[in-house]
Amino acid sequence: MSTTFQLDTSTSRANPTPQPMRRLTVPSIRSRKQGGITEEPLVMLTAYTARQAQLLDSHCDLLLVGDSLGQVIYGLPSTVPVTLEMMANHAAAVVRGSYHAVVVVDMPFGAYEASPEKAFESAAYLLKASGAAAVKLEGGEAMAETVAFLSQRGIPVMGHVGLTPQAVNMLGGYAARGRSEAEAQKIVSDARALDDAGAFAIVVEGVVEPIAIEVTGAVSCPTIGIGASARCDGQVLVTEDMLGMFERVPRFVKKYGNIAAVIEQTAAQYAEEVRSRAFPGADQTYQPK
Ligand code: KIV
Repeated sequence: MSTTFQLDTSTSRANPTPQPMRRLTVPSIRSRKQGGITEEPLVMLTAYTARQAQLLDSHCDLLLVGDSLGQVIYGLPSTVPVTLEMMANHAAAVVRGSYHAVVVVDMPFGAYEASPEKAFESAAYLLKASGAAAVKLEGGEAMAETVAFLSQRGIPVMGHVGLTPQAVNMLGGYAARGRSEAEAQKIVSDARALDDAGAFAIVVEGVVEPIAIEVTGAVSCPTIGIGASARCDGQVLVTEDMLGMFERVPRFVKKYGNIAAVIEQTAAQYAEEVRSRAFPGADQTYQPK
């Protein structure tokens, strides 16, 4: 993808002045899969802050404000305690930091399952408070009515099937799904139900590869894999995982960097210079005129 996107953070950390750029739209993402084929896979990464969004934006088709922020940012044990307000605040920051990618915000556990009306209220709040273009919710056939309700009322929905982390208390952990025939067929029928209900894309997480391939062939909208298959219509990873922020990551994560080591080494150098009074130096101190 060619882009004229440029960041100028010289004036202020909070108000960079990028060259104007047209943001992708939900229909443009949906139409990347034509007749079952996606020529160029969709690129999605999670983002939780404005600066992270600035750095990722020009490389991604979609930025996902995932409820994984509960674990990654807040140190929570799972995504279950994440609130609507947390999601709205981080999504607003990501929208402020991006100009190109479609920003999708996760509906947190408890904000949508009870009824389509409850889901509409939560989703409308998230989109109004943040400026994001779409919401994502977990679940298959049980959520199809809700997906149709939102989609028909102007709220684009990304589905999420397979390993659905908000259901950790039902699933008993984060193991890959679809190993038994019954489980595999349930994942396929879940994805079909979301597709029929109008989901514009579906995340397929933590499933055995043949099922990810079957799901991708079975639905008309793009699938976005995570721990799934390179034959999905796109891929997503948690950005901190792929940057190498954490030692322990799921097996499906490829670490493209070692940001944890960079942060540790940099902090160690700073601490050493403070303790030896090498910092601040002449360049970082004000003298009388
Ligand atoms: O919350 C999240 O980051 C997600 C992705 C892992 C798909 O749902």
